[in-house]
Amino acid sequence: MTGTSVLAGRRALITGAASGIGAAIARAYAGAGAALALADLDPAGLAVAADGLPEGTAVTRHVLDVTDAGAVQDTVAAAIEAHGGIDVLVNCAGILTEVPLVEMDPATWDRMLDVDLRSVFLCCRYTVPHMIESGGGRVVNVASQLGQKGGEGLTHYSAAKAGVIGFTKALAREVSRHGVLVNAIAPGPIETPLIDGLSPEWKAAKGAELPLGRFGRPEEVAPTAVLLAADPAGNLYTGQTLGPNSGDVML
Ligand SMILES: NC(=O)c1ccc[n+]([C@@H]2O[C@H](COP(=O)([O-])OP(=O)(O)OC[C@H]3O[C@@H](n4cnc5c(N)ncnc54)[C@H](O)[C@@H]3O)[C@@H](O)[C@H]2O)c1
Repeated sequence: MTGTSVLAGRRALITGAASGIGAAIARAYAGAGAALALADLDPAGLAVAADGLPEGTAVTRHVLDVTDAGAVQDTVAAAIEAHGGIDVLVNCAGILTEVPLVEMDPATWDRMLDVDLRSVFLCCRYTVPHMIESGGGRVVNVASQLGQKGGEGLTHYSAAKAGVIGFTKALAREVSRHGVLVNAIAPGPIETPLIDGLSPEWKAAKGAELPLGRFGRPEEVAPTAVLLAADPAGNLYTGQTLGPNSGDVML
């Protein structure tokens, strides 16, 4: 579906766009004709991501901490001002740490829930009213298959991502009748800087249990985000969690 103009005329705000899956979604959306507002904590990474987009892409960069409610509100307003609106919101910013529960301090738990779950609430809180007012939109929340099955040393991450999946279903029920379709993507392990910090033992065990026998690449996740934003491909999806996960979870 990428490479065609299925998102021509759409304006997308993508968080976590400086790296990994978010940057790949930005490339796929630009390739499909969308205008982009790229948001991330990392200004240098944002510049590299924006510079790598196809010539002629309408793109703005927004340095943003997704845990800061005021900053999220300002970024949403700036993106609407720059592009004339937001049709698609991709919540992709996230962090990952590995700590057994018996060693986890409350600050580590709180930080994970802030970055990986509360941020999704904040970005939706300030974007969805605009979508309702404009007659519709699409929200794509990047969760994780670990939110569906859990992962050792990852109680905080698994809880945050399960929260994203529950949030997605509830918001879909609340706003789909206004034309705002809300879905999640729950990738399996993907080769990005996010998983650099996981132990070699964790990665080896994980790779061995995957039916496909390998981790994915960001560009193998991005087409699912294109599908969910596209018309007609995504028109009947709402409240769903799609799983480009190497077979790790089968629903
Ligand atoms: N890589 C995987 O194996 C995997 C699997 C399932 C789900 N995911 C999810 O995919 C999403 C993207 O992860 P990735 O693998 O591309 O990781 P990544 O580290 O390559 O990218 C994450 C991006 O989020 C940004 N970010 C972190 N904290 C932020 C904050 N407070 N405000 C704004 N931006 C912030 C980082 O700067 C970075 O650019 C995450 O939500 C992650 O949980 C990743």
